[in-house]
Amino acid sequence: MSDILEPPFHESKNETSLDHHHEQIIWAIGGGKGGVGKSFITSNISICLALMGHKVVTIDLDLGGANLHTCLGASIPEKTLSDFLSKKVATVEELLTSTSVPNLKFISGAQDELGMANLRTIHKNKLISSLSTLDASFILFDLGAGTGSNTIDFFLSANQGILVVLPEPTSIENAYRFIKSVYLRKLKKVEEFLHLHPLINQVFNAKMDGQTLTPYEMVEKIYEIDPEKGSKIKQEITSFRPKLIMNQVRTQADIDIGHSMKTVSKRYFGLDIDYVGHVEYDHNVWQSVRKRKPLMLEFPESKTSAVLDRLTQKLLQEYKDKLRSI
Ligand SMILES: Nc1ncnc2c1ncn2[C@@H]1O[C@H](COP(=O)(O)OP(=O)(O)OP(=O)(O)O)[C@@H](O)[C@H]1O
Ligand SMILES: [Mg+2]
Repeated sequence: MSDILEPPFHESKNETSLDHHHEQIIWAIGGGKGGVGKSFITSNISICLALMGHKVVTIDLDLGGANLHTCLGASIPEKTLSDFLSKKVATVEELLTSTSVPNLKFISGAQDELGMANLRTIHKNKLISSLSTLDASFILFDLGAGTGSNTIDFFLSANQGILVVLPEPTSIENAYRFIKSVYLRKLKKVEEFLHLHPLINQVFNAKMDGQTLTPYEMVEKIYEIDPEKGSKIKQEITSFRPKLIMNQVRTQADIDIGHSMKTVSKRYFGLDIDYVGHVEYDHNVWQSVRKRKPLMLEFPESKTSAVLDRLTQKLLQEYKDKLRSI
């Protein structure tokens, strides 16, 4: 049956199963704000993984502003995601472009196609399910800025979401907005699945005293009213453990912002964020960007390259067992 004819129930069921379908390990790098270093971090982590011997495919999902190829030191590939979605090419394999790093290939996002920014759900699902055919142990998503539903869905379809944040109020605000969007999207999925509407209504009616409930308090309320459904929601939410990387830090206070974001997220959302580390502001970074060469290749001996390597190893820790079985 064609996707278009399927009722929404099937669609959300399908999306839920997509969370677990892949053989590969998918990491999505997002964070809300533009220009914080998502593409820089994604491309250099991809290179680290590839240099460690893993097969990696990095995908530019910045639909509309694709520039991952530049961060990887490659020229604009002939074929992009739009060619796959418009059926000009039949398989995602045909979109793969090699890089100077043997184990690393990438797929370019759409350059200028307006439609891509509003990628339809069937296209999104087609794309995500086609990824399982790729010969790779790791797939990395370089997400665009903003909290659009496509970006949020790609973030959620990954095994691991990684947030890149700058120690600046606008970036921090956008990161919270991003987390909130992901959280609500997750809640909505469970809600559709469990038919929770009456409960959510009860919770919202209960706040008539004027006090606004935090998302965490709302879930606790649902739990009080219906422990079975409440614990399912809690399960869904505790399974969401985004990683956090503070980028372009200059002081200890900048580094500490990551710790307070962790505390605030726990209190407000009931979410456990894993603060995996920070990357210092480094002149080598923009110099390598200007030269269109990835930092890991241009300045492999730099302190920041070593930091990125350590970050990658840290991110890898919990996949040790899974990697043995791939
Ligand atoms: N640690 C760092 N030190 C110095 N400069 C950095 C660092 N990280 C990123 N930059 C600079 O920030 C610029 C933006 O980085 P990048 O393109 O990776 O951001 P982005 O989040 O992907 O942006 P967009 O949302 O527009 O895709 C880079 O050109 C680079 O010069
Ligand atoms: Mg980018």
